[in-house]
Amino acid sequence: MNISGNTIFIPGATSGIGLALALRLHDAGNTVIVGGRRTALLEQIAADHPGLHTVTIDTTDVASIQTACERVTAQHPSMNVLIAMAGIMRAEDWTTGGFLATAEEIVTTNLLGPIRLVAALIDHLTDKPDATIMTVSSGLAFAPLKVTPTYNATKAAIHMLSESIRLQLADTSVRVVELEPPAVRTALMPGQEESAFAMPLDAFVDEVMTLIETQPDATEIQVENVKFLRYGEARGDYDNVVATLNQLDPH
Ligand SMILES: NC(=O)c1ccc[n+]([C@@H]2O[C@H](COP(=O)([O-])OP(=O)(O)OC[C@H]3O[C@@H](n4cnc5c(N)ncnc54)[C@H](OP(=O)(O)O)[C@@H]3O)[C@@H](O)[C@H]2O)c1
Repeated sequence: MNISGNTIFIPGATSGIGLALALRLHDAGNTVIVGGRRTALLEQIAADHPGLHTVTIDTTDVASIQTACERVTAQHPSMNVLIAMAGIMRAEDWTTGGFLATAEEIVTTNLLGPIRLVAALIDHLTDKPDATIMTVSSGLAFAPLKVTPTYNATKAAIHMLSESIRLQLADTSVRVVELEPPAVRTALMPGQEESAFAMPLDAFVDEVMTLIETQPDATEIQVENVKFLRYGEARGDYDNVVATLNQLDPH
């Protein structure tokens, strides 16, 4: 993906990684459309950052996805990059009943959401001479954090989905890029913004922008901090990675 000159739709950019990346991509010379459920926050973001576009979207809702995607492609026909950022992370206890509603909510947001977004936008994207779908997995796609089983599973699924659709789209104009964040200081989980274990948001986004700029053909965007989790199995120290990850207090 080129670092500038794109029209980029980021559902899930009202806060955290999505908002930080939206601002940096806007500054780098892209047209950026920020999406999310919190309409008042979207209005504030638009007021604070002239030139940034916004759209209300709930990626757990098929009708909302359809309406928002139609609006984005009508108002921004040049839209050529989708960053499927929206995600939630919740702790679950699978040793007893009561986790099902949470598990279903996570699957609907983190896995069905990106699938439905791609379904809504793929025909638009394949019409563009140069397009990108950026998926957002996690270091936890490659090593499990004990307290978040469904989250880990959805991110592993996003990794395999990205690998798979990249093969199918190889002869089209659409590139598939997977962003694999390590722990980053955002509001994703309670206490995470103050976590000593997580990476500062600005440092993470700086590194991501450098990687996009210097490796425009990369299929996976990996900051240095994620490689401990990402390559545990390849290094042959997966058991150590899992033990270390789960001994650390993530907050
Ligand atoms: N921070 C980390 O440590 C980390 C690590 C690995 C991967 N990630 C991934 O990075 C992505 C962004 O997370 P973050 O850390 O930046 O957390 P965040 O600050 O909580 O941001 C989550 C974003 O997703 C949006 N969102 C959630 N549910 C949505 C829905 N149903 N419809 C539309 N938008 C929705 C939120 O917007 P609204 O609330 O306004 O809808 C918000 O903009 C997630 O996919 C997460 O899994 C984060």
